[in-house]
Amino acid sequence: MVLHNLLESFDLKCWLIFFFLFLLLVDIIRNKNPPNFPPGPWRPPFVGNIFTGADLKTIDKLHKQYGDVFSVRWGSSKTVFICGYKMVKEALVTQLDSFAERPVIPLFDKVYKGRGVSLSNGYIWKMQRKFVITQLRYFGEAKKTLELSIHQESVFLCEAFKEEKGPFNPQFYLSTAVANIISALMFGHRFDYHDERFRNIQRLLVEAVSLAGSSQANLYNSFPSLFDYFRGPHQKVFADYFAILDFVKDEIRKHMENLDPSDLRDYIDAYLVEIEKKKSDPKAGFDLETLACATMDLFEAGTETLATILRWALLFLMKFPEIQKKVQAEIDSVIGKLRQPSLADRSNMPYTEAVLHETQRMANILPLGFPKKACKDTTLGGFVIPKGTPITTNLSSVLSDKNEWEAPDTFNPGHFLDKQGQFRKRDASMPFSAGKRVCLGETLARKELFLFMTFLLQRFTFSPGPGEELSLKGQLGFTHTPIPYRMCVIPR
Ligand code: HEM
Repeated sequence: MVLHNLLESFDLKCWLIFFFLFLLLVDIIRNKNPPNFPPGPWRPPFVGNIFTGADLKTIDKLHKQYGDVFSVRWGSSKTVFICGYKMVKEALVTQLDSFAERPVIPLFDKVYKGRGVSLSNGYIWKMQRKFVITQLRYFGEAKKTLELSIHQESVFLCEAFKEEKGPFNPQFYLSTAVANIISALMFGHRFDYHDERFRNIQRLLVEAVSLAGSSQANLYNSFPSLFDYFRGPHQKVFADYFAILDFVKDEIRKHMENLDPSDLRDYIDAYLVEIEKKKSDPKAGFDLETLACATMDLFEAGTETLATILRWALLFLMKFPEIQKKVQAEIDSVIGKLRQPSLADRSNMPYTEAVLHETQRMANILPLGFPKKACKDTTLGGFVIPKGTPITTNLSSVLSDKNEWEAPDTFNPGHFLDKQGQFRKRDASMPFSAGKRVCLGETLARKELFLFMTFLLQRFTFSPGPGEELSLKGQLGFTHTPIPYRMCVIPR
């Protein structure tokens, strides 16, 4: 009776307040941190820290404030950040199995649906990853096609550079050159620099990767069901990926028409044969849809990253011409001016190797790695991270860790040289991450970087276009890219 009278006396305002308090209570209960959860900034109800920003400066500030393990809440999802060499190594290497899974990332899940390598988990991931590694080794190393196709592509790249009469932005040529190396491995052929469809695929790829890192796209990841009804950059990302997927599916169709299982030409051929072999093991996920996703996955992972690192490499060499001269001097003395650079030269060129490693460190192209989640209840740095919590390994904080690098903010090839001038590996050099999810294209990427750069520097000297102010600041999308610049190439 009392309750009935109370409800009778409620007007609309009271109902709204009641409803708000109810939602607030649900939000507080649902998002209550478990005991000893990593600390973080105060999280306003409902939205959490979506206004805190996800840029590197903010993350660096939070790292300084809360230590190597801290948490941030975006929407209803809490992410734990792991920073600094020691803590990242503890998470990925010492506790090898603790953070080896990917969370669902709504922006990518729409397209990939857990297929491929980068975004899959469990048995499918294990089988697909193993297959890719074997095939990259076979088509990249055993068949010797990789070195040959990089040489061929370097010739096309040099020709394209020579045809430019004035200062130009090298971005498109570099993307096409590295996309062609992946194309040769995956599709068995390269594309002409003037091929309109391929040019368009490059454009879509650059756009998708850059939009995927925007703050609006992050908002979609926080509230996917809400933003599905709105127009925005997330819709553009989906459209771009579906167009790239169509392109890959066309290649698969052509391969199916003239497949000869006794003469495998490339990765797609090998995968088509594997689909037949794995019919008795459907859980391994070998089917045509996964092939298309896995191939797009590799195409994307192997193109944008490498094109970006080559752009950074040229930028650093123009910014520090004395370093460029020293690399050229090493090329001249070890390879000479006529012979083509070969992978066998790497071990005799410590200075060039050091410059390329330092380029990877300073370029910091995937500063926050790629998202992962805790596979089980885990303790890290004294904090409890419950199973399923998304985590971000802050690779940027490893590559600039003051406890590991003598001059973290300076481009200094000396970081990778010993007192005798020989190349030395550094444990904190982790641009490819570490542990079970470590980049599977690391070997390929290092080979491409060495061969393309030595080939180019053997033939050209690079300098900024007249009046061009070169900035080392970079801009952050999904990857950390240089601000576009124009350069001049001077034949040597
Ligand atoms: C400079 C070039 C590159 C850099 C800096 C780079 C960096 C990375 C990083 C940081 C990750 C995330 C690892 C993690 O989650 O802990 C990754 C994953 C991956 N990368 Fe690369 N990568 C490069 C080139 C390549 C190339 C050329 C390929 C392809 C052939 C490739 C294929 C992949 C794949 C498939 C994954 C997902 C691995 C998995 O989830 O198991 N990457 N890469």
